[in-house]
Amino acid sequence: MKPLVAANWKMHKTLKETEDYLRRLLEIIPVDPPVELVVFPSFTALALAGKILEGTPVALGAQNGHPQREGAFTGEVSMHQLADLGVRYVICGHSERRKIFGESDEFVAAKVRAAWAYGITPILCVGETLEERRAGRAWEVVERQLFAALSEGLSGPLVIAYEPVWAIGTGVPAHPKDAQEMAQNIRSWLLRRFGEKGKEVRIQYGGSVKPENAREFLGLPEIQGALVGGASLDPESFWRIAQAAGLE
Ligand code: PGA
Repeated sequence: MKPLVAANWKMHKTLKETEDYLRRLLEIIPVDPPVELVVFPSFTALALAGKILEGTPVALGAQNGHPQREGAFTGEVSMHQLADLGVRYVICGHSERRKIFGESDEFVAAKVRAAWAYGITPILCVGETLEERRAGRAWEVVERQLFAALSEGLSGPLVIAYEPVWAIGTGVPAHPKDAQEMAQNIRSWLLRRFGEKGKEVRIQYGGSVKPENAREFLGLPEIQGALVGGASLDPESFWRIAQAAGLE
Protein backbone atom coordinates (compact mmCIF):
# COMPACT_ATOMS: atom_id res chain seq x y z
CA MET A 1 0.00 0.00 0.00
CA LYS A 2 1.75 3.16 -1.22
CA PRO A 3 1.22 6.22 0.99
CA LEU A 4 -1.00 8.90 -0.55
CA VAL A 5 0.20 12.47 -0.29
CA ALA A 6 -2.40 15.02 -1.33
CA ALA A 7 -2.14 18.72 -2.20
CA ASN A 8 -5.34 20.54 -1.29
CA TRP A 9 -4.92 23.94 -2.90
CA LYS A 10 -8.25 25.24 -1.55
CA MET A 11 -9.24 28.56 -3.21
CA HIS A 12 -5.85 29.29 -4.75
CA LYS A 13 -4.22 29.55 -8.18
CA THR A 14 -5.18 30.89 -11.58
CA LEU A 15 -4.82 28.84 -14.77
CA LYS A 16 -1.31 30.15 -15.36
CA GLU A 17 -0.27 29.41 -11.78
CA THR A 18 -1.76 25.93 -12.06
CA GLU A 19 0.18 25.23 -15.21
CA ASP A 20 3.47 26.58 -13.83
CA TYR A 21 3.08 24.54 -10.63
CA LEU A 22 2.26 21.26 -12.36
CA ARG A 23 5.02 21.59 -14.95
CA ARG A 24 7.53 22.24 -12.16
CA LEU A 25 6.21 19.34 -10.06
CA LEU A 26 6.52 16.97 -13.02
CA GLU A 27 10.08 18.17 -13.53
CA ILE A 28 11.21 17.41 -9.98
CA ILE A 29 9.48 14.07 -9.26
CA PRO A 30 10.85 10.73 -10.47
CA VAL A 31 9.02 8.72 -13.16
CA ASP A 32 7.91 6.18 -10.57
CA PRO A 33 7.64 7.93 -7.19
CA PRO A 34 7.60 5.76 -4.05
CA VAL A 35 4.40 7.51 -2.96
CA GLU A 36 1.14 8.24 -4.74
CA LEU A 37 0.62 11.95 -5.39
CA VAL A 38 -2.67 13.72 -5.95
CA VAL A 39 -3.36 17.39 -6.57
CA PHE A 40 -6.68 19.12 -5.84
CA PRO A 41 -6.97 22.34 -7.87
CA SER A 42 -9.98 24.67 -7.93
CA PHE A 43 -12.83 23.67 -10.24
CA THR A 44 -11.79 26.38 -12.70
CA ALA A 45 -8.43 24.68 -13.24
CA LEU A 46 -9.52 21.03 -13.15
CA ALA A 47 -9.81 20.51 -16.90
CA LEU A 48 -6.44 22.12 -17.58
CA ALA A 49 -4.78 20.18 -14.74
CA GLY A 50 -6.32 16.97 -16.07
CA LYS A 51 -4.75 17.56 -19.48
CA ILE A 52 -1.31 18.32 -18.04
CA LEU A 53 -1.40 15.32 -15.67
CA GLU A 54 -2.61 12.76 -18.21
CA GLY A 55 -0.17 9.86 -18.39
CA THR A 56 1.89 11.17 -15.44
CA PRO A 57 2.23 9.63 -11.95
CA VAL A 58 0.24 12.52 -10.41
CA ALA A 59 -3.49 11.93 -9.99
CA LEU A 60 -6.23 14.54 -10.35
CA GLY A 61 -8.49 15.28 -7.40
CA ALA A 62 -11.49 17.53 -6.76
CA GLN A 63 -12.03 19.47 -3.55
CA ASN A 64 -15.76 18.79 -3.50
CA GLY A 65 -18.55 17.13 -5.48
CA HIS A 66 -22.34 17.04 -5.35
CA PRO A 67 -23.98 13.65 -4.83
CA GLN A 68 -26.81 14.15 -7.37
CA ARG A 69 -25.97 13.18 -10.93
CA GLU A 70 -27.42 16.39 -12.42
CA GLY A 71 -30.20 18.87 -11.85
CA ALA A 72 -31.17 22.26 -10.47
CA PHE A 73 -28.23 22.83 -8.10
CA THR A 74 -26.88 26.23 -9.12
CA GLY A 75 -23.16 26.51 -8.54
CA GLU A 76 -22.59 22.84 -7.83
CA VAL A 77 -20.50 20.27 -9.72
CA SER A 78 -21.52 16.61 -9.63
CA MET A 79 -19.42 13.51 -9.08
CA HIS A 80 -20.65 12.44 -12.51
CA GLN A 81 -19.13 15.57 -14.08
CA LEU A 82 -15.92 15.07 -12.13
CA ALA A 83 -15.57 11.49 -13.32
CA ASP A 84 -16.02 12.78 -16.86
CA LEU A 85 -12.93 14.99 -16.33
CA GLY A 86 -10.80 12.09 -15.17
CA VAL A 87 -10.94 12.97 -11.47
CA ARG A 88 -9.72 10.04 -9.35
CA TYR A 89 -10.10 11.40 -5.79
CA VAL A 90 -12.61 13.72 -4.15
CA ILE A 91 -12.44 15.34 -0.71
CA CYS A 92 -15.62 14.69 1.30
CA GLY A 93 -16.48 16.34 4.60
CA HIS A 94 -13.56 18.74 4.89
CA SER A 95 -14.03 20.69 8.13
CA GLU A 96 -14.10 23.99 6.25
CA ARG A 97 -17.15 22.78 4.32
CA ARG A 98 -18.76 21.27 7.41
CA LYS A 99 -18.30 24.57 9.26
CA ILE A 100 -18.65 27.33 6.63
CA PHE A 101 -21.27 25.63 4.46
CA GLY A 102 -23.01 23.67 7.20
CA GLU A 103 -22.52 20.26 5.61
CA SER A 104 -24.12 17.56 7.74
CA ASP A 105 -22.84 14.05 8.38
CA GLU A 106 -25.70 12.77 6.20
CA PHE A 107 -24.73 14.96 3.27
CA VAL A 108 -21.12 13.85 3.60
CA ALA A 109 -22.33 10.22 3.57
CA ALA A 110 -24.26 10.88 0.35
CA LYS A 111 -21.12 12.31 -1.25
CA VAL A 112 -19.04 9.29 -0.28
CA ARG A 113 -21.61 6.93 -1.81
CA ALA A 114 -21.90 9.03 -4.96
CA ALA A 115 -18.12 9.13 -5.37
CA TRP A 116 -18.03 5.31 -5.34
CA ALA A 117 -20.93 5.15 -7.77
CA TYR A 118 -18.85 7.12 -10.30
CA GLY A 119 -15.59 5.30 -9.68
CA ILE A 120 -13.95 8.10 -7.67
CA THR A 121 -12.11 7.41 -4.41
CA PRO A 122 -13.41 9.58 -1.56
CA ILE A 123 -11.02 11.13 0.95
CA LEU A 124 -13.26 11.30 3.97
CA CYS A 125 -12.14 14.01 6.41
CA VAL A 126 -12.82 13.56 10.10
CA GLY A 127 -11.59 15.46 13.13
CA GLU A 128 -12.50 17.14 16.39
CA THR A 129 -12.44 20.81 17.43
CA LEU A 130 -10.12 22.03 20.19
CA GLU A 131 -13.06 22.27 22.59
CA GLU A 132 -14.01 18.68 21.89
CA ARG A 133 -10.43 17.51 22.41
CA ARG A 134 -10.12 19.42 25.68
CA ALA A 135 -13.36 17.86 26.84
CA GLY A 136 -11.90 14.40 26.16
CA ARG A 137 -14.42 13.82 23.36
CA ALA A 138 -12.05 13.61 20.36
CA TRP A 139 -12.63 9.93 19.61
CA GLU A 140 -16.37 10.14 20.27
CA VAL A 141 -16.66 12.89 17.62
CA VAL A 142 -14.50 11.10 15.06
CA GLU A 143 -16.38 7.84 15.61
CA ARG A 144 -19.70 9.62 15.04
CA GLN A 145 -18.38 11.09 11.78
CA LEU A 146 -17.11 7.69 10.62
CA PHE A 147 -20.28 5.92 11.59
CA ALA A 148 -22.47 8.43 9.77
CA ALA A 149 -20.38 8.56 6.59
CA LEU A 150 -19.97 4.79 6.31
CA SER A 151 -23.31 3.62 7.69
CA GLU A 152 -24.17 1.86 4.44
CA GLY A 153 -20.88 0.01 4.23
CA LEU A 154 -17.62 0.17 2.37
CA SER A 155 -18.42 -0.21 -1.30
CA GLY A 156 -15.21 1.05 -2.87
CA PRO A 157 -11.68 2.18 -2.12
CA LEU A 158 -11.47 4.72 0.68
CA VAL A 159 -9.00 7.14 2.23
CA ILE A 160 -9.64 8.65 5.65
CA ALA A 161 -7.95 11.93 6.54
CA TYR A 162 -7.72 12.58 10.24
CA GLU A 163 -7.64 16.37 10.47
CA PRO A 164 -8.06 17.93 13.90
CA VAL A 165 -9.93 21.16 13.13
CA TRP A 166 -7.68 23.29 15.34
CA ALA A 167 -4.57 22.13 13.46
CA ILE A 168 -5.80 23.19 10.01
CA GLY A 169 -4.12 26.30 8.67
CA THR A 170 -2.87 27.34 12.10
CA GLY A 171 0.76 26.26 11.87
CA VAL A 172 0.18 24.16 15.00
CA PRO A 173 -0.02 20.48 14.13
CA ALA A 174 -1.36 17.75 16.39
CA HIS A 175 1.10 15.97 18.64
CA PRO A 176 2.33 12.94 16.64
CA LYS A 177 1.42 10.71 19.61
CA ASP A 178 -2.21 11.92 19.46
CA ALA A 179 -2.31 11.50 15.67
CA GLN A 180 -1.02 7.95 16.03
CA GLU A 181 -3.55 7.14 18.76
CA MET A 182 -6.40 8.47 16.65
CA ALA A 183 -5.20 6.59 13.58
CA GLN A 184 -5.06 3.40 15.64
CA ASN A 185 -8.61 3.95 16.87
CA ILE A 186 -9.77 4.54 13.30
CA ARG A 187 -8.04 1.37 12.10
CA SER A 188 -9.54 -0.76 14.90
CA TRP A 189 -12.97 0.66 14.15
CA LEU A 190 -12.58 -0.15 10.43
CA LEU A 191 -11.48 -3.70 11.19
CA ARG A 192 -14.34 -4.30 13.61
CA ARG A 193 -16.86 -2.99 11.15
CA PHE A 194 -15.55 -4.15 7.79
CA GLY A 195 -13.15 -6.99 8.60
CA GLU A 196 -10.34 -7.56 6.09
CA LYS A 197 -11.58 -4.73 3.85
CA GLY A 198 -10.74 -2.32 6.65
CA LYS A 199 -7.05 -3.06 6.15
CA GLU A 200 -7.06 -1.55 2.66
CA VAL A 201 -8.17 1.89 3.78
CA ARG A 202 -5.37 4.45 3.86
CA ILE A 203 -5.34 6.80 6.83
CA GLN A 204 -3.83 10.24 6.32
CA TYR A 205 -2.93 12.93 8.80
CA GLY A 206 -3.76 16.53 7.90
CA GLY A 207 -3.31 19.85 9.69
CA SER A 208 -0.24 22.10 9.39
CA VAL A 209 1.94 19.46 7.76
CA LYS A 210 5.11 21.04 6.34
CA PRO A 211 8.48 19.76 5.10
CA GLU A 212 9.99 20.31 8.57
CA ASN A 213 7.49 18.10 10.41
CA ALA A 214 6.31 15.70 7.70
CA ARG A 215 8.53 12.86 8.86
CA GLU A 216 7.04 12.98 12.37
CA PHE A 217 3.65 12.05 10.94
CA LEU A 218 4.50 10.07 7.84
CA GLY A 219 6.83 7.83 9.83
CA LEU A 220 4.02 6.69 12.15
CA PRO A 221 3.01 3.04 11.77
CA GLU A 222 -0.73 3.67 11.26
CA ILE A 223 -0.39 6.68 8.94
CA GLN A 224 -0.20 6.16 5.19
CA GLY A 225 -0.09 9.67 3.86
CA ALA A 226 -0.94 13.31 4.41
CA LEU A 227 -3.53 15.83 3.29
CA VAL A 228 -1.60 19.08 2.92
CA GLY A 229 -3.04 22.57 2.52
CA GLY A 230 -0.79 25.62 2.84
CA ALA A 231 2.53 23.82 2.42
CA SER A 232 1.33 22.16 -0.79
CA LEU A 233 0.99 25.45 -2.67
CA ASP A 234 4.62 25.33 -3.68
CA PRO A 235 5.71 22.29 -5.73
CA GLU A 236 9.13 21.99 -4.06
CA SER A 237 7.59 22.08 -0.59
CA PHE A 238 4.91 19.53 -1.58
CA TRP A 239 7.49 17.16 -3.02
CA ARG A 240 9.69 17.45 0.09
CA ILE A 241 6.70 16.40 2.20
CA ALA A 242 5.91 13.52 -0.15
CA GLN A 243 9.49 12.32 0.06
CA ALA A 244 9.16 12.00 3.83
CA ALA A 245 6.38 9.47 3.19
CA GLY A 246 8.55 7.42 0.88
CA LEU A 247 11.30 6.88 3.44
CA GLU A 248 11.40 3.49 5.07
P1 PGA B 1 -3.15 22.98 6.22
O1 PGA B 1 -4.55 22.43 5.66
O2 PGA B 1 -2.08 22.01 5.75
O3 PGA B 1 -2.99 24.34 5.60
O4 PGA B 1 -3.24 22.99 7.70
C1 PGA B 1 -4.84 21.06 5.67
C2 PGA B 1 -6.22 20.82 5.09
O5 PGA B 1 -7.11 21.65 5.27
O6 PGA B 1 -6.46 19.80 4.44
